[in-house]
Amino acid sequence: VREPDLAGRHVVVSAGGTREPLDPVRFLGNRSSGKQGYALARTAAARGARVTLVAANTHLPDPAGVDVVPVGTAVQMREAVLKAAADADAVVMAAAVADFRPSEYAAGKIKKKDGQEPEPLVLVRNPDILAEISADRARAGQVIVGFAAETDDVLANGRAKLARKGCDLLVVNEVGERKTFGSEENEAVVLGADGSETPVPYGPKEALAETVWDLVAERMS
Ligand code: C5P
Repeated sequence: VREPDLAGRHVVVSAGGTREPLDPVRFLGNRSSGKQGYALARTAAARGARVTLVAANTHLPDPAGVDVVPVGTAVQMREAVLKAAADADAVVMAAAVADFRPSEYAAGKIKKKDGQEPEPLVLVRNPDILAEISADRARAGQVIVGFAAETDDVLANGRAKLARKGCDLLVVNEVGERKTFGSEENEAVVLGADGSETPVPYGPKEALAETVWDLVAERMS
């Protein structure tokens, strides 16, 4: 049994994927299942932390003893994360947040019209929650972790993203057949703003979660 090394700490984890509505029946979404975020929440709770899990469109059972805040869109996720992060020792953004949302929401279902081409879809940028909370730390010494799914030049792209986002740690996943989206397993490299590089071999999402909390715990004030 592990020591409750996160006892007395409040940690915030985001999970799942945001959905950006077009009309009452349609949305732009992504393939995130939320499993990695839930594994992070479960393992943090097991290590003694008070956990707030901001969950976007997941279909997983609430982890025992975890405060789950359900959200739909990126804008809702931002609100919930900022609120929970105010007194948090660490924030881990495992959610797949949509970069863009439709510029307009149609109050009624968008209809196809005979003989007419569809209207082009106009998108606007969503707030970058990770960059915002990293630039504007709610607390001195707060540890902030991001995730990145890359298909090529994984390490170089990861380093650039870590610098761009301004977070302390970035978990870089290679998107592949049996890995990442919807699967029970993951393989990653955790990059640190201090230059550290921690490879996590292919294995259960729980194992990656434990490594993330080890690295966070080392960095917590
Ligand atoms: O830029 P990219 O989407 O690859 O960055 C991924 C990381 O940034 C994840 O940790 C994700 O939760 C976070 N993110 C965010 N807000 C966005 C987009 C991504 O917090 N609008």
